[in-house]
Amino acid sequence: MLILGIESSCDETGVALVDASGHDTPRLLGHALHSQIEMHQAYGGVVPELASRDHIRRVLPLTDEVLAQAGLPLSAVDAVAYTRGPGLAGALLVGSGVACAMGMALGKPVMGVHHLEGHLLSPFLSADPPRFPFVALLVSGGHTQLMRVDGVGRYELLGETIDDAAGEAFDKSAKLLGLGYPGGPALARLALEGNPQAYKFPRPLLHSGDLDFSFAGLKTAVLTQVKRLAHARPEGPATPQLAQALDAAQKADVAASVQAAIVDVLVKKSLSAIAATGLRRLVVAGGVGANALLREQLNAACQRQNVRVHYPELHLCTDNGAMIALAAGLRVQAGLLAAGGGAAAYRFDVRPRWPLSELAITAL
Ligand code: KG4
Ligand code: ZN
Repeated sequence: MLILGIESSCDETGVALVDASGHDTPRLLGHALHSQIEMHQAYGGVVPELASRDHIRRVLPLTDEVLAQAGLPLSAVDAVAYTRGPGLAGALLVGSGVACAMGMALGKPVMGVHHLEGHLLSPFLSADPPRFPFVALLVSGGHTQLMRVDGVGRYELLGETIDDAAGEAFDKSAKLLGLGYPGGPALARLALEGNPQAYKFPRPLLHSGDLDFSFAGLKTAVLTQVKRLAHARPEGPATPQLAQALDAAQKADVAASVQAAIVDVLVKKSLSAIAATGLRRLVVAGGVGANALLREQLNAACQRQNVRVHYPELHLCTDNGAMIALAAGLRVQAGLLAAGGGAAAYRFDVRPRWPLSELAITAL
């Protein structure tokens, strides 16, 4: 069964084709991506209307590219999967609209996929795929969750952030340092030149005894530190001029110290989740899963405790179409239909807010 996947929930248009025949792990036959980062950079963040319009421009050329990679015509596609949510409403509607139009034209089913389920299952496309059950650390721009995963569609939330997501903590700290958008990779690069022990930033909820996270206080602590270094008034506003008053070494030290605080919390809480569940496998997914320090420290900690850790391929950590096609394929193989995507329901169906816990399991 050949499944075309379309991702358009935020600032990346991703299209991919997977072969989910039989019961082997679905195989990636083609995959193309257009990142809108450059377009949004001028505004310091994602502009939703511009994102939607750009998805419209990119999605069909990317589909042609994927089909050419696979050497197959569109008519070979057996089902079209798209990101149903969560994400930006207008951006999601582009993927949903295109998927429905393709499905209707081909007379093939359309499936709405949960974006986080895509991230969660993305390591199944890696050279070292995990086996169920496992603990998943899902760390993206909008979510930070620990989950127990017993199978496709069987997700139990163990803990999550009570305020900002880990990616948001990277992005907001990067913005305070004048690093632009998206902040995570830029902050990680700068951190390589800094001292992670220069500033002792808070590690909120580290010893809370549960598996929840909190990153909002970190942003305040970084702002306070940047103001101190810039000799600015403590009660003054956060302006772009603050970062300009810091020298390169100070910025690098702040970046390294923030990154160390975020990674420390993510690693310790992941190991607490492993201890609480008694499972011996950890899967890390979502954009922040690309962070080199996080990988290094998780690898070391998991090795010490004899826990296997799995990641998606680096290029499939951030948003992409492959994870959407894969999640649809794994659902079909598990005898489940992606929630909301009844076989011939060609209706524009998106859920900008959609907790993973609500992911209904619909038997075929
Ligand atoms: O999963 P993703 O592509 O989009 C969402 O679904 O949110 O994650 C994007 C997030 C952003 O906050 C970005 O700054 C962060 O992942 N990110 C990183 C790195 N690469 C991406 N954060 C830290 N280090 C990185 N190398
Ligand atoms: Zn994502």
